[in-house]
Amino acid sequence: MWSLSSSLPFVLRFLLFFSISESKNLKRPFNNSISAIFVFGDSTVDSGNNNYVITPFKGNFPPYGWDFVDRTPTGRFSDGRLVTDFMASYVGIKEYVPPYLDPNLSLDELMTGVSFASAGTGFDPFTARLSGVIPMQKQLKYFKEYKAKIKAAIGEEKAKALISKAAILISAGTNDFVINYLGTPFRRSKYNITSYEQFLLQHVQHFIQGLRAEGAGLIAMVGLPPIGCLPIVITFTSGHSYGRRPCTDGLSSVALDYNRKLQHVLADLHNSSSPIIYADIYRPLNDMIRKPSQFGFDTANRGCCGSGLVETTFLCNPASSVCDNPSKYVFFDSVHPTQATYNYIFKALRPSIDRVIKNYNL
Ligand SMILES: *[C@@H]1O[C@H](CO)[C@@H](O)[C@H](O)[C@H]1NC(C)=O
Ligand SMILES: *[C@@H]1O[C@H](CO)[C@@H](O)[C@H](O)[C@H]1NC(C)=O
Ligand SMILES: *[C@@H]1O[C@H](CO)[C@@H](O)[C@H](O)[C@H]1NC(C)=O
Ligand SMILES: *[C@@H]1O[C@H](CO)[C@@H](O)[C@H](O)[C@H]1NC(C)=O
Repeated sequence: MWSLSSSLPFVLRFLLFFSISESKNLKRPFNNSISAIFVFGDSTVDSGNNNYVITPFKGNFPPYGWDFVDRTPTGRFSDGRLVTDFMASYVGIKEYVPPYLDPNLSLDELMTGVSFASAGTGFDPFTARLSGVIPMQKQLKYFKEYKAKIKAAIGEEKAKALISKAAILISAGTNDFVINYLGTPFRRSKYNITSYEQFLLQHVQHFIQGLRAEGAGLIAMVGLPPIGCLPIVITFTSGHSYGRRPCTDGLSSVALDYNRKLQHVLADLHNSSSPIIYADIYRPLNDMIRKPSQFGFDTANRGCCGSGLVETTFLCNPASSVCDNPSKYVFFDSVHPTQATYNYIFKALRPSIDRVIKNYNL
């Protein structure tokens, strides 16, 4: 007789078969011709470049990498993989996007794409100066250097094709507001929040033009997260250490305003031969923070590392306590999401990835 319990092993085998065949088909799960993935920006997408830079903004020690292969701290500011790693894997390029400054990258690793990102940076050049990290303009210089290396290895025509068929992702801006504009008096004495937004958006525009001058095709620009909900921002703006620790909504509304203006800038630059996509992370992250339990989280207002109130970079270190289960936390440290959160963000962006690949015959 057919019963639920006797059918379970079959269901399990069936699921197992599917998940195995799915992982086998990881190479090009659907027919796309994206050659590589190039990443620019800050700690949300830095896979370890700051390991090679003299700066206190590093994440190459435990508990960073807590849920990575062999618990390896790579320089990623999370317990595991970043959105860009999930994306590279989804389009069938590779499992992890390595940092460009790693001196040991093989030609194959270089050719399938790297991250030029640097934790602590921003579109405002002064932001990177404050943290001693790689400015966006320098990331663009590294991209040119990269191009020259590839050209020397495979020839000009192939190098050109590789760049033009690559997916480029940019994620920055939070540090401009949180570290620079709010954290120091320098920009505030010169710009109000509206004119500072305009100032940043001009840099965004120049950066995209710089990439296009190097032959970039598809570009995705990530917007700002709800910055008033970052645990460290809550700590410093609301003064609450315990209890409900509500988001500072006034700051998140700055992010929303900037995102709205950013979308206009991107729409003006967009064209069908060099598409520019806006990647919204505000909504998915905000949903997770407002209704954590719907996503399987139990804590959204402090990080998993240490007290979760202020620890990030060197303050989240081998001496810090670590929560029992990082996947129950939206944030791993007081600024950066957990791998579980990054995975949800990736899933929220997946329909856009599918649409882009389909619409532009990639
Ligand atoms: C994938 O795309 C290539 C190039 O457009 C085409 O030749 C090939 O038939 C496609 N394969 C499948 C399975 O759709
Ligand atoms: C590069 O590889 C060499 C030889 O395997 C090794 O000694 C060195 O530590 C590696 N460097 C980095 C930064 O991984
Ligand atoms: C911000 O500064 C700009 C010019 O610097 C000025 O036109 C605008 O009125 C200011 N906005 C606010 C809200 O003060
Ligand atoms: C699209 O933008 C690129 C880069 O600015 C430019 O070279 C190209 O001519 C534009 N194409 C169209 C169809 O407008």
